[in-house]
Amino acid sequence: MEYDELQQLYGHAEYYWGTEPNGLAQTVLEFAPERQAPAAIDIGAGEGRDAVYLAEQGYGVLAVDLTPNGLEKAEQLAEKRDVVIQTREADVNDLSFPAMDVVYSCGTLQYLRPENRRRQFEQFKTSTTDGGIHVLFAFVNHPDIPTAPDWGDNEYFHEQGELRSYYDDWEVMDEDAFVFDDDSGGEPHQHAAETIVAQKPEA
Ligand SMILES: C[S@@+](CC[C@H](N)C(=O)[O-])C[C@H]1O[C@@H](n2cnc3c(N)ncnc32)[C@H](O)[C@@H]1O
Repeated sequence: MEYDELQQLYGHAEYYWGTEPNGLAQTVLEFAPERQAPAAIDIGAGEGRDAVYLAEQGYGVLAVDLTPNGLEKAEQLAEKRDVVIQTREADVNDLSFPAMDVVYSCGTLQYLRPENRRRQFEQFKTSTTDGGIHVLFAFVNHPDIPTAPDWGDNEYFHEQGELRSYYDDWEVMDEDAFVFDDDSGGEPHQHAAETIVAQKPEA
């Protein structure tokens, strides 16, 4: 979706993506190393459902998104659930951040333009603590799945297997490839996607 459309959707009181966490956010708890006061970043946090969930699990969370309206709602959701999150308006294409134990992103990596990907994945990996993990979801090109009706000109599919190619030097703890039904935008459609959980080696 385009920036203006998201800003407008996030301007409504209703939570467009809901307030319950994605299943992938729960995966973080399964794989993250035990840490005192663990730090997590949610890249493309939207209205904050996963960022708030991770804060509820004891993470110090930085929620990043391009849209201020989304981040404002993320802060409201955090307040309502009685947790604290940090928010930052930033573009995934030139994002940098301090050391994190968990780098999480669900539904946003298609906005990372192909020419910026290798550089940004390296940046994200460098800014991860030893033993820290990345938990990521990316929409992928699939010969049998047409482009979704609400797909924007600012969105770029990943190639199948591309996510994994950024993690040759990390341990891949889990990965999945699947097709799922969606009705975002009001028109039923399908997406192909891949997820990966990868761990940075201890020094
Ligand atoms: C499909 S939504 C997913 C939101 C959230 N992760 C969730 O699952 O509820 C994609 C998010 O990416 C954000 N976004 C779009 N372009 C971006 C960019 N260039 N940099 C950072 N975030 C971006 C949008 O504002 C939107 O909130």
